[in-house]
Amino acid sequence: MKKEKAKANGGARSYYETLEVREDATTDEIERAYRKAKSLYSDESVALYSLYSGEERKQKLLELSDIFNTLSDPAKRKSYDESLRKERTGAPSREWDSGSINAGRDAFEEYSEVGAFRDRITLRRALSVAEQDQMATEKFRILFNRLEQICLKGAVKSIAVTSAVKGEGKTMTAMNLAFIMATEFKKKVLVIESDFRNPSISSEYLNMGRLCGLVDVLKGEADIRSAINRLEDTNLHFLPARCSVKNSSLLLDSPGMRSVLLRSKEDFDYVIVDSPPIFPLVDISILSKCVDGMLLVVRAGATPKDIVKKAVRSLPKDNLLGIVLNCADSIHMKKYYY
Ligand SMILES: Nc1ncnc2c1ncn2[C@@H]1O[C@H](COP(=O)(O)OP(=O)(O)OP(=O)(O)O)[C@@H](O)[C@H]1O
Ligand SMILES: [Mg+2]
Repeated sequence: MKKEKAKANGGARSYYETLEVREDATTDEIERAYRKAKSLYSDESVALYSLYSGEERKQKLLELSDIFNTLSDPAKRKSYDESLRKERTGAPSREWDSGSINAGRDAFEEYSEVGAFRDRITLRRALSVAEQDQMATEKFRILFNRLEQICLKGAVKSIAVTSAVKGEGKTMTAMNLAFIMATEFKKKVLVIESDFRNPSISSEYLNMGRLCGLVDVLKGEADIRSAINRLEDTNLHFLPARCSVKNSSLLLDSPGMRSVLLRSKEDFDYVIVDSPPIFPLVDISILSKCVDGMLLVVRAGATPKDIVKKAVRSLPKDNLLGIVLNCADSIHMKKYYY
């Protein structure tokens, strides 16, 4: 969130004023107002197109998305209303520099009464977007912007990241996408590691220490809230597998897994599921029934076209949100894929 609007509302319009809704508006009214405001700045709005530069429109859309994110989440809205009230009654203004992350923190304080998502996980392996790799960051920014348009249209919250075969960049894509969603776009994101045969988030990306994971939850040996951990200073949460299991389809096809996927959509803006590859196993067909959409990662120049086509055909038709071409810069894509 930008600093100028971060100072609660000192002089600036309140979120309600920006959306032109009453302060006691229902969630439905807020959503309608948000969609209306957003449509004014979208690509289709020819009239405004000439009044705003691309960058201005992008900023405005981000701001609106931030506002919607805050007002549509009861905990964040409560926290925002509180800061508004304090400011109006002359109480010292609250620090809002971290925007909805702060609002998120309040939500976690509430959760702590019932067993908090713990704020104690750290990254073991650097992510391109976290390391200020400008090129990579811009690509993930664009990916999220496109994805969000699809997600908002189709009420998609849980997204499985898969690929035709192993090693195409699923985990790298899931991690970087989730990171930018949480840090730059202020979404409350949960990454679930469901690739039980090759749980590289647990083994390579996170400092797991003695933390428990999804495998423990599905075996009934840990509570879900104790297995979800927040990456420090962000609104990004992880539910890592913790360890590998041989018969992964049994875990994936369990009522416990279905309820984790269903329940987590209530608590998070987006749930990114780092998934097994489509071939040669049945795992992904089980998983595809429990998520709202799938993102297919294709390693450019590596995966034969026929395999990619077969993979696409094997997914439920309306489940495929899009294809991410990984390592696309290095080869002549047209020649290869079209
Ligand atoms: N765009 C990229 N640039 C550089 N290295 C990459 C890129 N994408 C993936 N890699 C590297 O390739 C390897 C495989 O990537 P990743 O683990 O994300 O693939 P995966 O599809 O999750 O594999 P698996 O099926 O084994 O889980 C990793 O070492 C990763 O760092
Ligand atoms: Mg992986």
